[in-house]
Amino acid sequence: MAVHIVNHPLVRHKLGILRQASTSTHEFRAVSNEVARLLIYEATKNMLTETLTVQGWAGPVDVEAISGKKVTVVPILRAGLGLMDGVLDMIPGARISVVGMYRNESTLEPVEYYVKLASDLDQRLAIILDPMLATGGSIIAAIDLLKKHGCRQICSLNLVCAPEGIAKVEAKHPDVDIYTAAVDDHLNENGYIIPGLGDAGDRIFGTK
Ligand code: PRP
Ligand code: URA
Repeated sequence: MAVHIVNHPLVRHKLGILRQASTSTHEFRAVSNEVARLLIYEATKNMLTETLTVQGWAGPVDVEAISGKKVTVVPILRAGLGLMDGVLDMIPGARISVVGMYRNESTLEPVEYYVKLASDLDQRLAIILDPMLATGGSIIAAIDLLKKHGCRQICSLNLVCAPEGIAKVEAKHPDVDIYTAAVDDHLNENGYIIPGLGDAGDRIFGTK
């Protein structure tokens, strides 16, 4: 498994905005999608292309087009929806597989409440979207579900990760790569990432 920390000035700058408690819901949502665009750029850098000959303005010209794998993006509700538009801006043809899951606040265990997956998962690259990888429980449950439905290539886009969660994902699913803006310091006693962003779902949806 590889953890790719996308260490780019734009990502670092935008993550700083997300970390500020005073950032409005409107701006938090916009900047989350901007970071998602930058993370997906990195996550797709090894996609295969094929050469096609098309009719250009001065005659036939060889161009490249993405070939091979089809993609499904997998937002984990609700906060994962906050990364979806940015990713779909870059991969507009991707199918969307929705996984509804929330973390029980006392046990920190994920509770599944809605699932609607794309077809042909065995032929698709699944890109999980969730701003926060904290204990790792939610993403591990999502990966278990995708694999149970035949998915063979999975990666995850997360704004911020905790080292504890990464270690759990690595132990259970070493084949899944993670693309993130930061690996933070630790989890607090309530399972929140420190320094983190706070509750990403609440910040994206303007709830408390
Ligand atoms: C948050 C977050 C992840 C999960 C991360 O969701 O968006 O899905 O917690 O924690 P974990 O790694 O310990 O599982 P939350 O349960 O707050 O639900 P929401 O997205 O509906 O707000
Ligand atoms: N979920 C969040 O939204 N934030 C955290 O820090 C941990 C889990």
